[in-house]
Amino acid sequence: MAETIISTKDLHLYYGQNEALKGINLTLSEGEITALIGPSGCGKSTFLRCLNRMNDLIPDVTTTGSVLYKGQDIFGPKTDTVDLRKEIGMVFQQPNPFPFSVYENITYGLKLKGVKEKNQLDQIVEESLKAASVWDDVKDKLHNSALALSGGQQQRVCIARVLAVNPDIILLDEPTSALDPVSSGKIENTLLELKGQYTMVIVTHNMSQASRISDKTAFFLSGDLIEFNDTKKIFLDPQEKQTDDYISGRFG
Ligand SMILES: Nc1ncnc2c1ncn2[C@@H]1O[C@H](COP(=O)(O)OP(=O)(O)O)[C@@H](O)[C@H]1O
Ligand SMILES: [Mg+2]
Repeated sequence: MAETIISTKDLHLYYGQNEALKGINLTLSEGEITALIGPSGCGKSTFLRCLNRMNDLIPDVTTTGSVLYKGQDIFGPKTDTVDLRKEIGMVFQQPNPFPFSVYENITYGLKLKGVKEKNQLDQIVEESLKAASVWDDVKDKLHNSALALSGGQQQRVCIARVLAVNPDIILLDEPTSALDPVSSGKIENTLLELKGQYTMVIVTHNMSQASRISDKTAFFLSGDLIEFNDTKKIFLDPQEKQTDDYISGRFG
């Protein structure tokens, strides 16, 4: 059995009066990929953003319950959210590299952490870009703008940027939905190569992507977690009728 790395307990989140998460209990295991699936508006992104307190940035949000990361409640006073977001990094639907060079994108977080030595920065840039399977694409363009790359290359640079600060957990919110199928496939392969070294949580609307890459799948509906199980079990033998209806395309 893999070790628990993060778990939520009776997690509720309200945007003003609107309850977007209705008491979520979910435990993620170290080194696994968990897919979050469910129709638009069911709370997948909201849940993902709870895990590194990105919802703090949204006005009028109330959260109750807890998120235990390595045994400590991230909503507690000891949490430094800047540090938390390095340990629990995020990749978004639209590739969002900084408008700087590829090299500066990768070293940005390292410099904030106080890494200054050029050899060390060079080495981490190369390792991170290799781990994100984009080194061959960019090794001759490290000092060109990251915005000049294709969408798929930009997204892999964004993954490399997260890897560079050595996170424990990577949150990915529909990371391939803005990309063409070839670029999507490359991202999927990258995630599969990283599996085991990092814990990942991926929101996806693509059922075949969820079944190809994830170990566990969580099905959300209207702010509730309906079913959470091994991905094979969810897709081959779901226990809840609503899960079955969703994965077989009867709604959503
Ligand atoms: N920034 C926000 N402000 C207010 N309501 C929001 C915000 N983000 C999401 N919501 C609402 O919360 C619910 C869940 O949204 P979301 O987590 O984005 O769902 P999903 O990612 O599954 O499509 C929806 O009703 C949505 O309208
Ligand atoms: Mg979403």
